[in-house]
Amino acid sequence: MCGIVGAVGFISPKEYVFKGLKMLDYRGYDSAGVAYFNEGIQIYKDVGSVEHLLTIVPEKIDTNIMIGHTRWATHGAPTKLNTHPHLSFHKRICLVHNGVIENFKELRSFLIEKGYSFYGETDTEIIANLIEYYYLQSGDVIETIKVVKPLIKGSYAFVFFTSDDPNTLYVLKKASPLVIGLGKGFNLVASDASPMIDYTNEFIELDDGEFGYVNKEDAVIFNKKGQKTIKDPISKDVELISHDLKGYPHYMLKEIEEIPQTIKRLISCYFQKGKYQFDKELLKDLNESDHIIFIGCGTSYHAGLVGGRYFEKYGKSASRFIASEWAFHPTYPGKKPFIIMISQSGETADLIHCLTIIKEHNLKNLIITNTGGSTLDRNCMYSLLLHSGVEVSVASTKAYVAQVTLLAMLAGALVNDKKVVDDLRESLDVVYDIQDHYKPLIMKVADEIKDKKNIFYLGRSFDYFLSLEASLKLKEISYIHSEAIPGGELKHGPIALIEKGIPVIVFITDPDTAASMRGNIEEVKSRGAKVYTIATKKLSRPEDTIMVEDYAYYLSSVAVSPIAFYLAYYVALAKGLNVDKPRNLAKSVTVE
Ligand code: AGP
Repeated sequence: MCGIVGAVGFISPKEYVFKGLKMLDYRGYDSAGVAYFNEGIQIYKDVGSVEHLLTIVPEKIDTNIMIGHTRWATHGAPTKLNTHPHLSFHKRICLVHNGVIENFKELRSFLIEKGYSFYGETDTEIIANLIEYYYLQSGDVIETIKVVKPLIKGSYAFVFFTSDDPNTLYVLKKASPLVIGLGKGFNLVASDASPMIDYTNEFIELDDGEFGYVNKEDAVIFNKKGQKTIKDPISKDVELISHDLKGYPHYMLKEIEEIPQTIKRLISCYFQKGKYQFDKELLKDLNESDHIIFIGCGTSYHAGLVGGRYFEKYGKSASRFIASEWAFHPTYPGKKPFIIMISQSGETADLIHCLTIIKEHNLKNLIITNTGGSTLDRNCMYSLLLHSGVEVSVASTKAYVAQVTLLAMLAGALVNDKKVVDDLRESLDVVYDIQDHYKPLIMKVADEIKDKKNIFYLGRSFDYFLSLEASLKLKEISYIHSEAIPGGELKHGPIALIEKGIPVIVFITDPDTAASMRGNIEEVKSRGAKVYTIATKKLSRPEDTIMVEDYAYYLSSVAVSPIAFYLAYYVALAKGLNVDKPRNLAKSVTVE
């Protein structure tokens, strides 16, 4: 996923564009570029960060129009030539893009026949030229867009301007997010509202197939049929889209520290005056469903594993799938299956693929997401927002806890089990206790394991689900190979990996499996493992590393996950790595 920003009619577009790119670089940080018009189209771009780009652009930029892009390389290596913005062959179109063009090879061959040649390897450069090719025939950009749109297959948010009219920015969108920010005497565009919040709180979120243009006075939108349409602006909750680091050194630490308020905000949103506040139709459909299917990717898939168990607790049959697997082997047992998709960003391509199949089969569906206005939020039958505030750090933390918290409440609401809310409040105290008392100890463990090549997590039942998430967090930001092993599976193979000094981190918070886990600890210790145990008070022993207050064990992923998040954070910090923007990753994976 990439980040796009644009401004027209703005007093100092440079300030907005660079601030915007900085805010959006969690979407992709392989390379960045800007373009503006001043006696012709001026483009500055290079591999590396937005900060680096700022060092190569002129100090003073006098212009009325500017676009910018921060890239996560999909088609074409992260080179300078493949960096956006892209300029068309005859230098009439300058364009930035977020998304993936599936039929770019065919379009490329078509243009080569028309005498075009290309300087890079990207799908985006092809589109800049396709637009130019038809624009040179009609001289009318809107008519050109109407001709070009049906020719393009894939996902896209395009923003471009022409050398003939450097007072207008053109936009078109399908599957990738694009938002217009309405100003007085200026207009802005961006991949999401966050870069624009300091300049306006009036937004137009484009729907799939819509296109149009903005100039300093107007924002003109055409619907997917090509007819002019009026869209009412919406405003956003500043707090929830603010990228303010609030004095923290990293977004990941800030977002872990925000876990208690995330849990509290969810309880206050979905449980008021002693009553659950879920859509009655949603609860009815869930209650009538004879099988619930949980689908997600990465951390969100891990939340679905826990969610499935919560619904089974109330007699529902459930299954859990990784989205990219389900997309190619869609199974939906039962006469009345119901699909619950989970996605922090609401833009993950694998899930958008699943949604296409879900709609083809008329399956009832719900998206649980942290991003209002996202593709999945807009296109699913039901949508529940996590209200966690923007999660900037690529490693998802507060959103995971929010997903599990919301799933616990939704499952409880099916049978009006209000004890879930009491249990969540009790877990909240455990999180506070961890934040107030255990960070120094976690830092010490982090220092002991930071140079290890392999680290294992061990747990059973909910503690196994937590181990999966803990292991993913460590992997993605510390680059240490890590695996989560179900305690009962140890002797069926993985124990062969245990050798002297290997760290094994063990969660024991489930009374039913605690004794068996103590056995597993002895097994790995006898092979030389260095064991770190996290246990609840009732189940703890003096030799344990961390003993946390007791809570309802089915909420391990709410109460104890902060320990796993802090550990991953402190290991990455101790290794001097880029905690918020780990290598090769992006906050949302918008390519399959
Ligand atoms: C989690 O830390 C990772 N960033 C990644 O696994 C993420 O959970 C996955 O890509 C799913 O993203 P989503 O929740 O936005 O769909």
